[in-house]
Amino acid sequence: MADNKLSIEDMAIFCKKKGLVFPSGEIYGGLTGFFDFGPNCVEINNNIKMEWWKFHVQEREDIVGIDGSIITNPLVWKASGHVENFNDVHVKCKKCKKPNKVDKSEIGKVKCECGGEYEIIGDLNLMFKTNVGPVEGSTAYLRPETAQLIFANFKLVAESSRLKLPFGIAQIGKAFRNEISPRDFLFRCREFEQMEIEYFVHPDNAKKCPFIKEVLKHEINVLSEETQKKNQNPKKMTIEQALKNRVINTEWLAYWLATEHKWFISLGANPDNFRIRQHIKEELAHYSSDCWDLEYNFPFGWKELEGIADRSDFDLQQHIKHSKKDLSIFDQDTNKKIVPHVSAEPSLGVGRAFLVFMFDAYNDDKQRGNIVLKLDPKLSPVKAGIFPLMGKPELENLAKEIHESIKKYFNISYDRSGSIGRRYARADEIGTPFCITVDFDSLKDKTVTIRDRNTTKQTRVKIAELKDILRKLIDKEIEFKDLK
Ligand code: GAP
Repeated sequence: MADNKLSIEDMAIFCKKKGLVFPSGEIYGGLTGFFDFGPNCVEINNNIKMEWWKFHVQEREDIVGIDGSIITNPLVWKASGHVENFNDVHVKCKKCKKPNKVDKSEIGKVKCECGGEYEIIGDLNLMFKTNVGPVEGSTAYLRPETAQLIFANFKLVAESSRLKLPFGIAQIGKAFRNEISPRDFLFRCREFEQMEIEYFVHPDNAKKCPFIKEVLKHEINVLSEETQKKNQNPKKMTIEQALKNRVINTEWLAYWLATEHKWFISLGANPDNFRIRQHIKEELAHYSSDCWDLEYNFPFGWKELEGIADRSDFDLQQHIKHSKKDLSIFDQDTNKKIVPHVSAEPSLGVGRAFLVFMFDAYNDDKQRGNIVLKLDPKLSPVKAGIFPLMGKPELENLAKEIHESIKKYFNISYDRSGSIGRRYARADEIGTPFCITVDFDSLKDKTVTIRDRNTTKQTRVKIAELKDILRKLIDKEIEFKDLK
């Protein structure tokens, strides 16, 4: 990202130009903090969510998924502490009058970007309120995080799915926060999507992670609380070193921080644009005993991409107290009923993940004269463009036939308009990894040209093998250079 020098404003302009993201209801002037997503962005976001779900739920035996409602019994939010504590300190700049929010720990320490001092307006609860049913006063809230529905459903899910500790419950869904100052495009919005896991462990074995070996050799830039207090730079180290030197306190936090970093890298993100940062004591949320952020080097600085908190048994105990229900589960190993601890809560916004993949994929290719979005094929909205070389019926018919035979397997497009160069450029700009051209030779020998987005290299393949070849290229079973 840093090499491209693309600002967040430029990214917003690019996304609008390509029909990816628009201010919500723009014909009426939009609404700050809300966005609508166009056809190709829906595909990218669905791909991000599908890859996240496959990696975190379907390919694991220890994590299951749920889908809770957006509006739920308001007592859930009373128990979780959100009604009382989910507040930001609302401040206004004395000079430029711009509103902002600050952390309690920042009061008196930070200034507005114009250099002006802040005056405190008061605390603002970030939850959106609504009224349920015809009777005024039946206040409920739009959920500010998906996590609480996991806790509220914990026992039902654990018992019906016959889960054995350690295990996780995952959820993807919308969350809403009445942010005082939404900013930086999709980075801070009022409506966004989260992908969250609550990972439950036995309270007597809350520190040992059976999967730690998978990540011990993984390297990452680390900014601990101590390093920040000493004003030092982050240090690159392996997870093994971070644990050995007690930079990261628990194997579980270390495991999830590395696993999340690895997930981004597996989908083409640049490993060097990430670091992990520990929350300093004053920053910790009301529910958290230790928390780290996976941060990304956004154009506006290193910022939280994903939070990974140790929530202990705070939430389950709160729900036990407020609902007066027994949420303990039976542990077969010790023959005892226990209330598990959340050893780690990886919590990631879809919009922030979208920005990371977009910044790392964005290439302004001066030679080609167009943008090339080098998205991982798994994330690309369109996997292949099928082009007849010219507007001749015999070429168009064969191209449509190929399109027809492959479209049920992948999201592919058929494009017959403009020069072939123009069609390649359009495909590059939305990240289409492969373009298939049907020419006069195709009519004779039943082969087509396949072009690789990243290198512009081309080769011929048999039409009969096209579907299989595309699948193998997308799944990285083969590389483009392997095609003969
Ligand atoms: N359940 C824990 C939780 O919600 P959080 O740090 O408040 O923790 C988790 O949020 C993630 O959700 C963030 O790391 C970010 O990716 C995303 N997120 C939070 N607030 C957001 C906002 N206003 N706009 C876009 N994404 C947001």
